[in-house]
Parts: sequence; structure tokens; C-alpha cells
Amino acid sequence: MKIFDKIHDIQDEIRTQKAAGFRIGFVPTMGALHSGHLALVRQAALECDRVVVSIFVNPTQFNNPEDLKNYPRMPEADIGKLRSASVSDVFIPATHEIYPHGTGTAEGIPDAGSLATVMEGAFRPGHFQGVMQVVKRLFEIVKPDAAFFGEKDFQQLTIIRFMTRELGLPVVIASCPTIREPDGLAMSSRNLLLSEEQRKAAPGIYKALCFVRDNQGIFSVEEIKKRALAMIHSNVQLKAEYLEFAEEDTLHPVTDWDEASVIRCFTAVHAGKIRLIDNIRVIPANA
Ligand code: PAF
Repeated sequence: MKIFDKIHDIQDEIRTQKAAGFRIGFVPTMGALHSGHLALVRQAALECDRVVVSIFVNPTQFNNPEDLKNYPRMPEADIGKLRSASVSDVFIPATHEIYPHGTGTAEGIPDAGSLATVMEGAFRPGHFQGVMQVVKRLFEIVKPDAAFFGEKDFQQLTIIRFMTRELGLPVVIASCPTIREPDGLAMSSRNLLLSEEQRKAAPGIYKALCFVRDNQGIFSVEEIKKRALAMIHSNVQLKAEYLEFAEEDTLHPVTDWDEASVIRCFTAVHAGKIRLIDNIRVIPANA
């Protein structure tokens, strides 16, 4: 496994691999790697000849400076995990390598409209512009044939698909299901920041989502939302920021089960200062 921090070095390497006819799979990450990331790597290795992983805590997608400061960083441990996975190249650039002209220039990023203003977009202004900015930049550097993203960040996945389509980027966007802890908590780098009590409470988020999925035939959207929020709030450690239903492709809000044939429930929940997100497909229920 080779490790690069300079754009021209990784580009030389990838150029050589492409010339040899290899298909490049790319897993962009912000580090603090967990089994969810490693599942993306495994999927990439199944579908591609070479797997490139980037580790870059992207400042432009953080709307809260404290969140950026506290985001877990553990490059040595990450590299150790990637060494035991099927990764050919790791790219760990410094901020000035990715943003040589400063972070303010988000040129060429398409307007994702309501995709980027609902749910996460409403509570984290500018977040998805930052995500699109860095993913576009990383795609331009790595030039992957396929890139792999987790469904835990479903809105991000939808927006990256939109951007790739809109800009005509020659990258296949592949998604992998959310990987969960045995108690149901969606794996996230932020889980490392939870206190013992918050960690114990956090699986309540997935329990509420499963309740929604398993009871959508019984209750109206409004009623099930009320009950799911009550389930989350039954633990004093948890405070929901939103719990919404949306059509899966367009992310249009759904207020009645008849409004769409594929519906997902999305939530963001605070456990103290740690913000956790999760989602589940509600209709069709067992898909
Ligand atoms: O999902 C993430 O970890 C980040 O948003 C991504 C896609 C690596 C962009 O910084």
C-alpha cells in the first residue's frame, strides 16, 4: 500500500495504473475509520482492480468551527486499518494541497436546489456546498472509475449523484448499506466522541426508526412521527433535531403515505453536543 500527500504523486501513480488497464475504485473519507468505511473498501475491491482511499477532514463542510476542531483525527490508526484491507493507495493531503487558493472558492458547484436545503441542509447551512466542493476536487485529482458512499449519509449520497450527473463526471456512484453496531447504532466516526451514557442511549435512534418502518401501515405519517419522537425523547440523553419523511430520489417531503412509492425516514439527534444522523427505508418496508 502506498501513501501520498501530494496531488502530482498520486496522479502519477493512478496514471500508471490506468495505463495498465486497471479500473480505479475510490473511497473518500474524513478518517477515524470504522467497519462502515472498511465495508466500502471491500465493495470497491469487489468491483474495481485498485482501491484508492482519501483521508481529509474537509473544513468547508463544517458549519460549526467547534465540530471541525473536535472531529476525531487518528491517521496512524487509520493507515493500520487500511493496510489490512485491500487498499492500493492512500491519499492524505494537507488543506493547502486541496485548496491552494483558499477554501472560499467553490466554483463550478451546481445548485442542488431543495436537495441541499431540506433536512441536513436546513440545519447545516453550506454543508452540502462544502461536500460537493471537496468531492468534485477529489474526483478531479483521483479520476476514479467508481466512487463508494455509505447510505448512512443518504442525503449526501443523493446530492453527490446529482452533482455527478449535472457536471457529466465520468464516475459511477455506488452506495453501500449502513453498517451498524450489534445494538443497532449506525457506525459513525462521531460515535467515538460519545460519553458512556450517551453511547448507551444512542441505539434508541435506530429503535425509533425500526418502529416507524414496522408500523407505517398502522399510523398516519403525523402520528408515527409523534410516536417515534416520543421514543427518542424517552431517553433524556437524546434530543431530536428533526425526524422527516421524504421520497427517496427527490427528497421531497412526504406528509401522507400515498404521496410516494419509495419513502425514507431521516433523523438527526443530539446526544449532548454530538450530532448523530440515521435513516431507514420505510416503504417498501422490507426492501
Ligand atoms: O462522508 C464523508 O466522510 C465526507 O462527507 C466526504 C464524502 C469524505 C467528503 O468530505
